[in-house]
This record gives sequence, structure tokens and C-alpha cells, in this order.
Amino acid sequence: MTSLKFSTFKNSKSVNLLYENACEFLSLFYKESNLPHLKERLMEVADEINESGTYTQTIDEIEFGVSVAWRNSNRCIGRLFWKSIKIVDCRKVKTVDEIKKAVFNHLEMAYGNGKIKPFLTLFAPENKNGFAPLRIWNNQLIRYAAYRSEGKILGDPAQLEFTDKCLELGWNGRGTEFDVLPVVFQFEGENPAFFEIPSHLIKEIPISHPDLSWFTALGLKWNALPVISDMVLEMGGIHYPAAPFNGWYMVTEIGARNLGDINRYNKLPLIAEKMGLNIGGKDLFWKDRAMLELNYAVKYSFEKLGVSMTDHHEASIQFMKFIAQENKLGREVMADWVWIVPPVSGSTLEVFHTNFENKVLSPNFYYNTPAWKKVDIQTSKKCPFHIFSKK
Ligand code: ARG
Repeated sequence: MTSLKFSTFKNSKSVNLLYENACEFLSLFYKESNLPHLKERLMEVADEINESGTYTQTIDEIEFGVSVAWRNSNRCIGRLFWKSIKIVDCRKVKTVDEIKKAVFNHLEMAYGNGKIKPFLTLFAPENKNGFAPLRIWNNQLIRYAAYRSEGKILGDPAQLEFTDKCLELGWNGRGTEFDVLPVVFQFEGENPAFFEIPSHLIKEIPISHPDLSWFTALGLKWNALPVISDMVLEMGGIHYPAAPFNGWYMVTEIGARNLGDINRYNKLPLIAEKMGLNIGGKDLFWKDRAMLELNYAVKYSFEKLGVSMTDHHEASIQFMKFIAQENKLGREVMADWVWIVPPVSGSTLEVFHTNFENKVLSPNFYYNTPAWKKVDIQTSKKCPFHIFSKK
């Protein structure tokens, strides 16, 4: 910690807090990376904050911060690979064309011809008044639309509200069960706009089963790349509201949840019936049996096309390795048990039998209020930006 006197700063609570956060973050960075001259950097940051109300992080600070934000993501079982994430610095991006290019570039590089690599594309941080220069409205870059039709929902029910927003903005879907939504973005103070992702950048895996030949005809599929685009990256007190990042899928995210959940694609009854099971009786084990085959099919299908995916067994082993690795370095792993334990075969996995502390550390990724639920930034002077950790 520097011995700098705070009386030299603007008499503002938030400015002091920002400097405190910066100190904490930079101290961590310099310590873990064994770097000299922390004091000098802190003085520089203090001056910048004093003058402008905020400070600019260096690319080295960002690379460290993003990795540690992943390391600190209590709900993520895939954290063994926290050091491998690559950053694309797009903080200067200001035009529609540049955003498009950045998004397309992310999809292409991250997919890596099936050998998926973790990437984060960093757009401009929140300004000193708490406004986001850019927001991406989608919760992931690639998601399927949901339409109401005859009292039912066609597509992914989780995207119903967002799909309505897209339709209001003038987007037109084809009306299939798997229509990829457009990317909706918004510059500060401007209306939202959207663009489509070219189909060659949307890698989809048709689901088939190694033994059940009828599986293919169900027409199930999922996209290969989960790119979360609505979370706020916080590091050193700086908030990056647009920082889409990806890993690769764990099979149960698709097999158990996206395709299996009753309030998502709800495919278990269909699969159970095809398996010849009675889904109308008292015996509900058809759910377990269909669940297993669906997950097995998803894993098999990704593998067949050579697209990266882990399963819950492998992920649990890797997570335990991550814990051991961290402990060896004197760090305790924080984790949210409810999220870490996969939704299938929990008790067969070592993570199930492990207790965790669930403290939120910084840097981290936070949930944000959906952009369309914000107060109008033009008519309100209040800070519309509020991040929360949902626990
Ligand atoms: N569960 C989300 C989905 O099914 C993805 C969350 C991030 N997952 C990941 N493997 N990086 O789309």
C-alpha cells in the first residue's frame, strides 16, 4: 500500500473507493507476478484518478485481472484452465462495423476449428459517471429464439423476453425451433441496434446416438460455443459491462439443462417414448433413463465432430486438481456447491463430497440488470449501473 494521503483527492466517496480497489488489485498483480515498482504504479493511478475520476488499466493488468476473475468465479467448475484465457483488447471500438468485426473475430478464434479456446473480448469500461459506453443485450452471443404459438412456446423458452425485444426492434426470425438470435448492442445514449451472425460462424452439432438410430431424426442440435455476453467484469474497481467471454461446454449444460429442463426444450418425454418407456405411469424412472441417453448422445455427437466438450466426470476430476493446485500456492478455492455439482450423477463425483466456502473475491464477473430494464440514462441523473453477485 502506498502512503499517499487521501486528502489530496476530490472529496468523493466513489473516487476513494476506486483508489482502494485499484490498490488491492494492483498489489495482488504485482505480488503474484513478482513485479517491482508497485509504488510508482500506484502513484500514477492516484494521479490519474485525481485528474479524471478514473484510470486506464494496462494490457498486462487486464490479462492478469481477467484470468483471476475466472479463477474467482465461484460457480464455474472449469477453472483449472484459468490461466489460458486470451484477451482481445477492443476498448477503443466505437462503430457498428468495429463491433461486428470484434464479435465475428471472437467467434472464429474461439472456435478454433473445433479445438475451442477461451477468449475474452474487452470493450470500453464504464465511465466515471457510471454509464456503460456499450452494452450487449444478449445473454450469450449465440442463443435460440422463442416464439409463442398456439399457447405453446417454440424454441428456447429462456429467450422469450429477449426474443420479444428483438422482434420489437424489427428483427424477423424464420420461426423454427432453433433460430439463432441477432446480436443486439447499444451505445450510451443511443437506441439499440442489431446485426445477424453469418451462418458460417455459428457452429452447430446435430445430436445422434451411437446405439439408438432413431435419435438423429429427432432433429436435436446445439451450438458449440458458449459465449457469455451480459456479465460485468470487475477488476481493480473498474467495471467492464461489455466483455464477452467463452469456454467450452460441459455435456450436462446441454443434455441435462438446455435440452432436458422442463422449462427449456423439455425433450425427456419425447426421448423416453422413443425408448419404449411408459411415461404415463407411477414409475418416473423414464426421466433418469432418458436423461442418461440424451447426455450420452450429446457427448458422442460433439466428439464425433471433434468439437471440444467435457463431461461431468472429467470436469469434477479437473476441478479437484484445480483445488489442489491452488492450495499448494496457499490459496483457498471459493465455490458455490449448488452450481459446482453437476445436475447428473452428482454423488458419483468427488465435488459432491467436498465442502466449499462461497465468498466473492475480486476481480470477478457479476450479473447485470438487463439493459432494457434500465432507467433511461438520458432523463435520469441516477447511476443506472448496478452489479450484483446473486448470493
Ligand atoms: N450453461 C450455459 C449454457 O448452457 C453456459 C454457461 C457457461 N458454460 C461454459 N461451459 N463455459 O449455455
